[in-house]
Amino acid sequence: MQATRLIRSVLSPRSTALVAAAFTLTVHAQPVPEGRRLRDIAQEAGLYLGTTLNSGYATLSDTVPYQAVAVREFDIFTLENEMKMRRIRPTSTTFDWSVTDPATQLALNHGGDMHFHFLVGGPSKYAPDWMKAMANDPAVTATQFRNMMKTHISTIMDHWPQNGNMKMWEVTNEMFRYSLTTPVAGGNWKAGLCAPGTADPEDMFRKKLGDNYLEEAFREAALHKAPLDILMYNDNNTELLSVKSDHVYAMVQDFTNPNRAGGVVPITAIGFQCHMKDQDYDWSSLRQNFDRFSALGMELFITEMDWRITVGVGTETTANLFDKQGRNYHNFFDAVLRSPGFGGAKIWGFTDQYTWVGSETMPLLFDANYNPKPSYYAIQDALEMQQRDQVMANPGFETALAGNWTPSGATLTFTTAAGAHSGTRALKVSGRANPWSGPQQDVTTTLKNRGAGRYYLRAWARVPAGTANVKLTLRLDDSGATPVYFSTGVQTVGTTWTRVSGWINVSWFKQLNTATLYAETTAGTTDFFLDDVHLGDGNLVANDTFENNLTNWLAKGTATLGSTSATTGAFTYHYGAKAVRVTARATDWAGASQNMLAALLASGPGEYNLSAYMKLFSGTGTGKLTLRLKVNGVNQYLAVSDTIKAASWTRLSNLINVNWTGTLEEAELYIETPGSTTSYYLDDVILRPKKTP
Ligand code: XIL
Repeated sequence: MQATRLIRSVLSPRSTALVAAAFTLTVHAQPVPEGRRLRDIAQEAGLYLGTTLNSGYATLSDTVPYQAVAVREFDIFTLENEMKMRRIRPTSTTFDWSVTDPATQLALNHGGDMHFHFLVGGPSKYAPDWMKAMANDPAVTATQFRNMMKTHISTIMDHWPQNGNMKMWEVTNEMFRYSLTTPVAGGNWKAGLCAPGTADPEDMFRKKLGDNYLEEAFREAALHKAPLDILMYNDNNTELLSVKSDHVYAMVQDFTNPNRAGGVVPITAIGFQCHMKDQDYDWSSLRQNFDRFSALGMELFITEMDWRITVGVGTETTANLFDKQGRNYHNFFDAVLRSPGFGGAKIWGFTDQYTWVGSETMPLLFDANYNPKPSYYAIQDALEMQQRDQVMANPGFETALAGNWTPSGATLTFTTAAGAHSGTRALKVSGRANPWSGPQQDVTTTLKNRGAGRYYLRAWARVPAGTANVKLTLRLDDSGATPVYFSTGVQTVGTTWTRVSGWINVSWFKQLNTATLYAETTAGTTDFFLDDVHLGDGNLVANDTFENNLTNWLAKGTATLGSTSATTGAFTYHYGAKAVRVTARATDWAGASQNMLAALLASGPGEYNLSAYMKLFSGTGTGKLTLRLKVNGVNQYLAVSDTIKAASWTRLSNLINVNWTGTLEEAELYIETPGSTTSYYLDDVILRPKKTP
């Protein structure tokens, strides 16, 4: 599916021309990649997409293009080294803001946010000598050391204005040993912490303060954060299910346990560093790991991603290695984007020219001349693909309200430019009669077509002043006597854009009459702004409604995937403005197909809803949706079939159990008509995980 763009970007004459041209260009003219900018796509999906700024970024010989590309592509920034304890606090009584302040301003000038890497911890090499001396001095008491730590946290956090553009605090970084092999016993995650005197980075905080220093750091940070700031724990080697990630998981379980002695610890997010190398990863393990942290209510961030390759060993060309690297980036993003808690990613640099793991490993998104690599397009593609399960109309309020959004006891007006979360427009909601008054959209057709199941709701909101508690609600009027409501959790929203999101498990009684989506507050009638509303259903099928013509679809066997847009005679569409007509079928299994391998590997085994609408050219017959899985060399088939006819569209739908033990080698979805080769029409093809949270 996504391979098209990855391969094109490596092999097309266009990209070769760009590489060649770069040698004659001045450094000020960086090629602009095809498609949309990463930060724009991410913002539309309610995600952050960031980068770290190289040490001394402002004085690089090519700082002009460097900064231009940084602010063009990314919307959250950190500094590679200048926020670390050693740099920011050269003596116990002085703090050095000489790099952080201009960087904060640079971000601000381009509508970007900041991420603080990091307040406390990490290998002792990141600590200034005076701090290490304190830790090693038996005369320094725990209280003195604790006060030093609190001063560190409070001075730094208070340096940035509350509700300014510093949004994310890595409270602690790399507190667990680099690799852990002894499983967590009885929830005792503390056994895995770095300890003084081990081969792992010595932990001076633990040495002086004992096992509770982590908790103490989070509590101190909570005293200085703005209400919506993110408090994060960050570490390496925790991306997949592993003994190490089990330790971090056990820590979050402990910190968030409402019955915890001493009370819950105010942690809101987990950072996964994601310094990756060469080999493929187990995408389902990645997905499961992200899902389990999501289930604890954490927001999840990729914080330091890079993906090293080994060039010049073996026979593979650099272009091939770039392509593989792109696929790895793509698969990684595709997997984590499906986790409900995923909040965004930060790449540890962006040009292969400047990377901590050596330029020769080419781990980033642009080459040394700022030409985009396949890895750039991989992230662009994965983020765009995330939009494919968007089932709202006019989600970003970029087009006129008519027909999509209607007011309910309120006045709806557009705001432009400065007021928008993404694009150029947002919605302003004023004159609200009740807490539930506001904008609404009728999503009955969508819900009827796609059926009951698990949906993801998300939007960005802010208020002109003060705060408001905002939630998104889906109201169903079914054949029961009273309406049913499905809501996201309540999110306190301030004057800056804040994400309101959550999964809802939608079902209805017998007949669905109307489905209405709206945004509301839990109390009061304050004005609010809304943007980038997302109602997604997790469909793995790309271009499922053929609105994008035949993109992503293939012919299996001898068959012609014909027109998608005729609306005359027997050929009508079921949803949107297009369907596909499949003719000239040589066998009863020949027809439309789509390769589902990457999507299924990322999504993982489980129960899926497989459904589609079918219609025949003439008469009646049987329609069949088949998912062929090849596992360890053996084919297995999962299918849904039903009687279909020429007179009208029929929905085929059932749950299938998608399971594999061993290697899933192929996954192909195709649409057939047992015992007949008649022409058929097809629309709204869905393969969607039926997971409960
Ligand atoms: C690295 C920087 O990129 C280098 O410039 C520096 O010499 C060492 O630190 N995990 C982290 C980051 O948390 O702080 C590290 O950054 C990379 C690994």
